[in-house]
Amino acid sequence: MSRYAEVCAQLRDAPKTWLVTGVAGFIGCNLLEKLLQLDQRVVGLDSFATGHRYNFDKVQASVTPRQWTRFNFIEGDIRNPDHCRAACNGVHYVLHQAALGSVPRSLEDPVTTNGANIDGFLNMLVAARDAQAKRFVYAASSSTYGDHPGLPKVEDQIGKPLSPYAVTKYVNELYADVFSRSYGFHTIGLRYFNIFGRRQDPEGAYAAVIPKWVASMIANEPVYINGDGETSRDFCYIDNTIQANILAATTDNPEAVNQVYNVAVGDRTTLNELCEHIRRLLAARFPHLENFKPTYRAFRAGDVRHSLADISKAQRLLGYEPTHRLGEGLTEAMDWYVGDLAGE
Ligand SMILES: NC(=O)c1ccc[n+]([C@@H]2O[C@H](COP(=O)([O-])OP(=O)(O)OC[C@H]3O[C@@H](n4cnc5c(N)ncnc54)[C@H](O)[C@@H]3O)[C@@H](O)[C@H]2O)c1
Repeated sequence: MSRYAEVCAQLRDAPKTWLVTGVAGFIGCNLLEKLLQLDQRVVGLDSFATGHRYNFDKVQASVTPRQWTRFNFIEGDIRNPDHCRAACNGVHYVLHQAALGSVPRSLEDPVTTNGANIDGFLNMLVAARDAQAKRFVYAASSSTYGDHPGLPKVEDQIGKPLSPYAVTKYVNELYADVFSRSYGFHTIGLRYFNIFGRRQDPEGAYAAVIPKWVASMIANEPVYINGDGETSRDFCYIDNTIQANILAATTDNPEAVNQVYNVAVGDRTTLNELCEHIRRLLAARFPHLENFKPTYRAFRAGDVRHSLADISKAQRLLGYEPTHRLGEGLTEAMDWYVGDLAGE
């Protein structure tokens, strides 16, 4: 039995209370769904800055009515310390996901990104520490590797940040480390690489590449590739991300706490390969994609050229074993997107 399967069985036997911030967003609502399916009690906090209430309807439809009663939602803002305090009251584990994502958004409006991602983060750390939460697991980011040229990316070798967003995610790690050293508070940072899967928002200027391309291909609209398409990423399916969060929250390995981990698969895919993979999967259902070609445009400021994770630290200390590589994740996600976007 994998470490993850063992932990899930233990949680079912002895349910805990979890706080998921950013619970109306892509990753947050997937964490909510899994935790409710494991019969856990979940407090959720979100301001709907970028998340959606309809994500709750989808989660509700995938759990039993009894499981759904174990979800307590607080509409609030992490920039407000009182909201953070109210949300942390009585929780065992915090999974802090709330933040303003997106490199371009942070370049356009660094002050607002800073408010949510640094002030909000610090408010959450203080509130979770004061509520004596057992563990504070937070969404860090692969953007922290910045201009470091090394591949694969190893946790203790980072470069200079390339965007205000990357600065905020690095500051999160510095604060978490100081809270561990100064107050003995247990934190774990998960440096997510490019996460994708069901309920990731395809709309808006800052949408992530996979849902945006899927939506554009289905609608027979242009797909834009920034640069020559040879930019590469380590795309990570949402189920792997959920696994990493649950393992990080529950690990009793003293060496594993107060650390940061890469959360990815350890595979590198170029944007050209990704585009062709999605086109092939969709072409079986949408004949207009038979000869579909992407449109190339300028490289985007702040983007890292190549990204590939070394995941051995998470494997060794947390027992993390990704269950989905890109192809498996895309196949699962595509069913969901086709159902959701094309109403099939
Ligand atoms: N998706 C990825 O590939 C990826 C990669 C690296 C890091 N991350 C990090 O993972 C976390 C979740 O990302 P996501 O993709 O689910 O994004 P998302 O935008 O779907 O979710 C973020 C959620 O946080 C909420 N939020 C934002 N500001 C808030 C505030 N001030 N108070 C309360 N709630 C607030 C939003 O309303 C939203 O529901 C973020 O911290 C993000 O930086 C994501």
